[in-house]
Amino acid sequence: MVSLPKKIEITEVGPRDGLQNEAGLIPTELKIQYINALLAAGVRKMEVTSFVSPRAIPQLADGEEVFKKITKPKDAWLFALVPNLKGLERALAAGVQDIAVFTAASETFNKKNINLGVKESLEVIRQVVREAKGKVRKVRGYISTAWVCPYEGNIQPKKVLPLIETLLDLGIEEISLGETIGAAAPLEIQKLLEQALKVTTVDHLALHFHDTRGTALANVWAALEMGFYKFDASSGGLGGCPYARGAAGNLATEDLLYALHRMGMITGIDLEKLSQASLLMGRALRKTLPSRYLSTVGK
Ligand code: COA
Ligand code: ZN
Repeated sequence: MVSLPKKIEITEVGPRDGLQNEAGLIPTELKIQYINALLAAGVRKMEVTSFVSPRAIPQLADGEEVFKKITKPKDAWLFALVPNLKGLERALAAGVQDIAVFTAASETFNKKNINLGVKESLEVIRQVVREAKGKVRKVRGYISTAWVCPYEGNIQPKKVLPLIETLLDLGIEEISLGETIGAAAPLEIQKLLEQALKVTTVDHLALHFHDTRGTALANVWAALEMGFYKFDASSGGLGGCPYARGAAGNLATEDLLYALHRMGMITGIDLEKLSQASLLMGRALRKTLPSRYLSTVGK
């Protein structure tokens, strides 16, 4: 039997990765209520909003107000996604302490997402990190399309490894590898992670799996087996990617929690309370969220 990690760190991305893909504008007050409910469920790492161009993502144009009004437990890491110096400036003005920067392993995806090639985006990240030094607590880095790109197809590890190394060199201590469109299967996950462990350790990597084709939980298992213990997930399975048509949401936090808790692992999050937060958002959006666990709640 493999020795599995006991303590698992979950970064809840529903309020950003999840909500950014909702077509109808969600009232700011509801977002605040939802985030507060997630915090009350015990979430201690969360991506709460982004400070990107409101033209690119109108849904999160209220980032300032959301951030100012949510409760901020002292022991919580509340990340805001920033694409450039302007985003950093807005985040700092709103009182943000923890930021996330992002790039992608695919040139085409990066161009569509942020209008920059991979190399140029690393330059922007370098500027942001330099400017943020001493002004923020923690910087998280995302590498999207680390396995498969909706435009370029399969991505080889040799494209991802230099990005990991560059972000580490910049002093970014946690890098989330994104399986952005939910296409990869466990053996592909392990192939990249094996290579990644040659340049860093499990402490510096998180995994961000979307569940479009039902492989996300199996992919989590593939990573757990190798000792990885940091995962991103989206409450209710909310989400998708505006630059990857057809991509479904992240692995649902409930489905992940259910499996982890059932295996005796510790997350610090109350599954029932977190489900209630998702149901609150689901009711407001008038839809049944994709989480499988949620479909059993109240039955
Ligand atoms: N916040 C608010 N406005 C911003 C901004 C930010 N962080 N960055 C740029 N802008 C504004 C500029 O002020 C400019 O406004 P103007 O036309 O009124 O003068 C406009 O956006 C264009 O700026 P420019 O620097 O030329 O950016 P761009 O058009 O090349 O877009 C990004 C680049 C990164 C700002 C944009 O593509 C973006 O926000 N992408 C994020 C997408 C995302 O969130 N994806 C999901 C995460 S994986
Ligand atoms: Zn995502």
